[in-house]
Amino acid sequence: MGYSIGRYIAVILCLCLVMISVVQAAPHKNSAISEDSFYNPPAGFEKEAPGKILRTRRLDKKSLSAFLLPQNIDNAYQFLYRTTDALGKPITTATTLIVPHNADPSKLVTYQVMMDSPSPSCAPSYVLKTGAGLKGVITQAELLFMDSLLERGWYVNTADYEGSNAAFTVGAMAGHGVLDAVRAVLSSGNQTKLKADADTQLWGYSGGALATGWAVQLQPSYAPELKFIGAALGGLPVDLNKTLNAVGGGPFAGLAPSGIIGLTNQYPELATYVDSIIKPEKKKAFYKAKDLCLTRLVLNYAFQNMDDYVTRPDYTNAPVAKKILEASVLGRGDTPKVPLFMYHAKHDEVVPYSPAADVYKKWCKNGATIEFVKDEASEHIILFITGAANAIMYLEDRFKGAAVHAGCSARTTITSLLDPGALGVFGKAVLDALLGLLGGPLGPGNL
Ligand SMILES: *[C@@H]1O[C@H](CO)[C@@H](O)[C@H](O)[C@H]1NC(C)=O
Ligand SMILES: *[C@@H]1O[C@H](CO)[C@@H](O)[C@H](O)[C@H]1NC(C)=O
Repeated sequence: MGYSIGRYIAVILCLCLVMISVVQAAPHKNSAISEDSFYNPPAGFEKEAPGKILRTRRLDKKSLSAFLLPQNIDNAYQFLYRTTDALGKPITTATTLIVPHNADPSKLVTYQVMMDSPSPSCAPSYVLKTGAGLKGVITQAELLFMDSLLERGWYVNTADYEGSNAAFTVGAMAGHGVLDAVRAVLSSGNQTKLKADADTQLWGYSGGALATGWAVQLQPSYAPELKFIGAALGGLPVDLNKTLNAVGGGPFAGLAPSGIIGLTNQYPELATYVDSIIKPEKKKAFYKAKDLCLTRLVLNYAFQNMDDYVTRPDYTNAPVAKKILEASVLGRGDTPKVPLFMYHAKHDEVVPYSPAADVYKKWCKNGATIEFVKDEASEHIILFITGAANAIMYLEDRFKGAAVHAGCSARTTITSLLDPGALGVFGKAVLDALLGLLGGPLGPGNL
């Protein structure tokens, strides 16, 4: 379990606080992405190459400044691009590219947010455009991380890597979505001035690490022309079934219906199966997850258990489910060629530690270059915040051209925030805000 009573109480308390604040705020329904014609795939897009930009729009800098620090933003663009789903079918999705002041056109970070939702309307690009309910969809912490990347003069893009059908937890979709977003933004130079051969790195935590991990695994086969110089993966989900088991009955239980529905958004045969094993009286409650973004997902299903929703407790063992769950396990494809920084909390109660450590060992055995940090004191949400400084230092070293030590090295830290240099990574405004998040209740609505 690895989940201390004290933390449990803290999380329950903060969930209660968040629920009170959500109830007090007028309940808002997310507006629908389907009403925004930007996302309509143009006729004939299937024939375009993966990563081809199909449509472009500029974001209003002023509206974006409501979430990101205005001093960091010069321009922001969104691109609709062609990508490929997990079944090899052409589909479209979007990415947002943010250009800082004094931007260095030779440096790009593609940052994957933890979207964690099976609703297309929770896509980061759509939320950044409308601003509607942003807090609850993209976490405040991740906006601050992006701010500190922009502050360094790096271009930052974030992809709607789940694709237009919001196939949450579908690794191949996420990997393609990230790789094609990079292709798209690297081809946008006539508008954005970003160089086509810019040094590119990737970063993501939790759901964002799932997308990043699949991107680096798929890169050698799907996008061999892309040459990444580094990638940071924190709290990496490797095995969906193990995550389903870990979150059941806990504060993040909502990731189970969300992940299952995300899979059904890609695999119709799984949708039929899942519908056949959800108890009739539970269908409404289960499918509610279809329309919820991260915060509401977490709040709505906290401490519930999938076992109460299904007619068979061994529901993952039916051949159709087993096959798809097996295909969604990371670490069975190509070994990543890009140097990696991995960090994971030993007591991660949401994304279990050992599958990530096993992938680390396997990739190392097969010739990968990886620095691995095991954090002894943190759990999932704490390391999300405290581990970010090490990730940024890693990206910074790669951009500076610091040598990577070939092969693998692992170390243990008591808490990543106290690692040398960690506190100096953030500017004062960002550091104060992050410490504020850490000092407050670590609930989904407060992150
Ligand atoms: C940028 O180049 C693409 C083709 O490479 C073209 O379709 C597009 O119109 C150009 N945009 C601008 C603003 O020049
Ligand atoms: C998922 O995990 C449960 C609990 O450990 C196990 O009984 C089941 O066989 C697993 N399913 C698959 C498809 O691995």
